[in-house]
Amino acid sequence: MTAAPPLPAGAVLVWGGAGHAKMLRPTLARLGRPVAAVVERDASRAAALPFPGARWLADEAAVRAWVADTGAAAAGVAFTLAIGGHNGAERCRLEDLLVGLGLQPLTLVHDRAWVADTAALAPGCQILPMAAVGEEAVLGRQCIVNTNASVDHECRLGEGVHVMPGATLAGCVTVGDHATIGSNATILPRVTIGAGCMVGAGAVVTHDLPPGTTAVGVPARPLPAPSAAAAPPSAQGA
Ligand SMILES: CC(C)(COP(=O)(O)OP(=O)(O)OC[C@H]1O[C@@H](n2cnc3c(N)ncnc32)[C@H](O)[C@@H]1OP(=O)(O)O)[C@@H](O)C(=O)NCCC(=O)NCCS
Repeated sequence: MTAAPPLPAGAVLVWGGAGHAKMLRPTLARLGRPVAAVVERDASRAAALPFPGARWLADEAAVRAWVADTGAAAAGVAFTLAIGGHNGAERCRLEDLLVGLGLQPLTLVHDRAWVADTAALAPGCQILPMAAVGEEAVLGRQCIVNTNASVDHECRLGEGVHVMPGATLAGCVTVGDHATIGSNATILPRVTIGAGCMVGAGAVVTHDLPPGTTAVGVPARPLPAPSAAAAPPSAQGA
């Protein structure tokens, strides 16, 4: 068996090879971080990964083998998770997996985003173009503040929160772990969004939302939880 070629200095593994990865590409290039491998479960995307020359890895087993073969941990390889949507819990799970393999979470801030000097971003956060993170805001690991979204002063975001494009969190908003704020939604000052909540695109949230709520509209109202009859068989224990 031939030895794997040495990894370039500053090499990065990107998990996800679709649109979100493309949005991270300019920031990785500006930082001079070459993408050595891309994890993409959809084999149809393998031939057109957004990072030419990167090694395609199809699943977690392939990642483990690549890390072992290349000595990625000793080489200081970092990673970023290009997984948008309402997938904050999965991003945190993958961070645990990759940190366990010895890789390092990368924090990415686009050069046309603004992050206040007094804000605190935990490792693995992504701040995309034209996004703003205000004074004394605190973001947990693996948060995404997407294009043109804003997280204003003294907001508190748990881990794995996604603030989708154009959404606005007014001052002193609290968002629980793995919650997602849909595109162009607005959260009024001092409101608390519970863990795992999904706020629909364009909603205006005027009151606290309990954990796990999906809320839509202006003002936002909870969507009814799916009934047992409507749930898929696996959710009914079949
Ligand atoms: C809230 C959301 C998660 C609900 O998705 P869902 O559970 O699949 O819900 P459905 O599409 O079945 O819609 C359920 C009902 O809510 C309504 N609804 C869904 N999203 C809505 C929204 N954003 N605003 C107002 N009403 C909405 C639907 O019209 C439907 O109403 P009806 O039963 O009277 O026909 C989704 O619609 C949404 O807004 N996602 C955000 C997407 C986004 O911002 N993506 C950016 C990617 S970076």
